[in-house]
Amino acid sequence: MDSAQHQDELKKQAAEAALSHVEGGIIGVGTGSTVNHFINYLATIKGKIDGAVSSSEASSQRLKAHGIPVLDLNATGGLSLYVDGADESNKSLQLIKGGGGALTREKIVAAASERFVCIADESKLVPVLGAFPLPVEVIPMARSYVARELVKLGGNPVWREGFTTDNGNLILDISGLQIMEPMQLEQQINNIAGVVTVGIFALRPADVLILGSAEGPRTITA
Ligand code: A5P
Repeated sequence: MDSAQHQDELKKQAAEAALSHVEGGIIGVGTGSTVNHFINYLATIKGKIDGAVSSSEASSQRLKAHGIPVLDLNATGGLSLYVDGADESNKSLQLIKGGGGALTREKIVAAASERFVCIADESKLVPVLGAFPLPVEVIPMARSYVARELVKLGGNPVWREGFTTDNGNLILDISGLQIMEPMQLEQQINNIAGVVTVGIFALRPADVLILGSAEGPRTITA
């Protein structure tokens, strides 16, 4: 098994372990390769749930293909459970998300959920956030302005060319950051005019992190 296959097995393991958190009702479902495994597992117990609120068009398509109803968050009200992946997590379960570009809807569904269960392979747990380039969703006309402001914060923003978010916006990926104060930086970047969402999930971190590992799933609770 090569390392990509091994990593995928660990993602699958974390996704399966998250099923024990599903108690019925309407489930918030995130985006990405780890969540794709979770959707496959969710389909095996679809009779137990009423449907899902999805964080992306891609996950909506997958959920529907499995016969799981996709519902509008405006109609469901608050959710009890949100399951999503991450690009990085620190030990306080503060995350970097948005590698797949779905960060804004992910942040909305996370905010509207009582419990956020994050699923990932063990390589995603890091001492300090920032080695993964931090995604920022921006309004198209603000791209250059926001990039200049991000340089002032010490980052190196790169436009994810050829990519448009589900909301019709653009993504800047910022490398070169060591995020020592995630909550502060989340607020600071969110305050730049033209930023829709920054991919730091620190003001609303995960509540539970399930890591697939060679020794089996590890659960870290905030
Ligand atoms: C999607 O925009 C992201 O926030 C994903 O949750 C994140 O990139 C994790 O993706 P994988 O499960 O594919 O690693």
